[in-house]
Amino acid sequence: MVAASTPEGKSTRVRRIGILTSGGDAPGMNAAIRSVVRTATPLGIDVVGYIDGYVGLVSGSHRELDDRAVGNILQRGGTVIGTSRCPEFYDAEVRALAADRMRSDEIEALVVIGGDGSFRGASEFTREHRIAVAGIPGTIDNDVWGTEETLGFDSAVNTAMLAIDNLRDTSESTGTNFFVEVMGRTSGAIALYTGLAAGATGVLIPEVENDLEGLASRLQRALQRGKRSHIIVVAEGDEAGGAFGVANRVAALVDIPFRVTVLGHVQRGGSPSARDRIIGVESGALAVRCLAEGGGGVMVGMRNRQAVLVPLEEVVAHAHPEPELNKLRLAIEVAG
Ligand code: ADP
Ligand code: F6P
Repeated sequence: MVAASTPEGKSTRVRRIGILTSGGDAPGMNAAIRSVVRTATPLGIDVVGYIDGYVGLVSGSHRELDDRAVGNILQRGGTVIGTSRCPEFYDAEVRALAADRMRSDEIEALVVIGGDGSFRGASEFTREHRIAVAGIPGTIDNDVWGTEETLGFDSAVNTAMLAIDNLRDTSESTGTNFFVEVMGRTSGAIALYTGLAAGATGVLIPEVENDLEGLASRLQRALQRGKRSHIIVVAEGDEAGGAFGVANRVAALVDIPFRVTVLGHVQRGGSPSARDRIIGVESGALAVRCLAEGGGGVMVGMRNRQAVLVPLEEVVAHAHPEPELNKLRLAIEVAG
């Protein structure tokens, strides 16, 4: 067991930690849960999994997670402990109730796997109740400040890319152009990376004003050069109203046969990519080591492919990371 100290400076030992997954599920969350349990056990720390995110924390609903309970989950998508959005957790009185429950269940620290919203909740919770928290970024959107990668992003991009590869076959064969909507209400990261990986003619993201006239002219010129298959990737939160909105507006400017495909929640599921499993393993281990040593108020970010600790306060003080506009330009340059 590892010695730790309370915020009041008293020497203590962390014996029991809780873990929860919150917000949208993301491939790789299970890899992180497994890593938390498998790192904690040899340190003499028990782990309990709260059911359905903050909902479980508030109601006290949890189950013990031992080494065997997390066997054979590394390769599974979703989260074995469930997730949800919990509007009640915005209420300070509800958070106080959750802290009381944790104390009466002798659960001394918490690992929160989720997106920036989940971290806002975690940051309030640890500030108000001095219960140590370590966050692990888990969202397919890759929109958390302080980390270059979030769990699930790589898998979601791969899923979207493979779906577009399939569409490309029918697109090339029939001359139909596809407007493909990918996830991301406020973040264009999935659209951007998928567009690059799948050779899209256009990528439209919520963070920048879109030039639909420019896109229509590029389509026109490419059609004149004999290119008959185009894929335009649109983030769901795009200002023009997602893929349907963009398709209708572009079709009013250039006469092309087109279809719209909305990929939707298929991007959230499926077996995690190797990268997401590795992020889960590394970040789960660092989160537990930090809590075991008496740390807290941190998020485990990935920088240059290394797991690093970032103060949670800093994470929530920042807006979403800036979109990678150099990649957006590159996608268009090489579109052909
Ligand atoms: P994500 O974590 O993926 O960004 P959400 O923004 O939906 O997803 O947040 C997930 C949950 O985190 C919310 O349903 C709520 O329980 C909690 N949460 C989000 N923001 C706050 C906040 N400002 N205060 C307290 N809890 C919050
Ligand atoms: O945050 C992950 C995400 O999948 C976003 O890409 C998407 O906009 C949103 O969640 C969808 O959430 P819900 O399933 O609650 O509609």
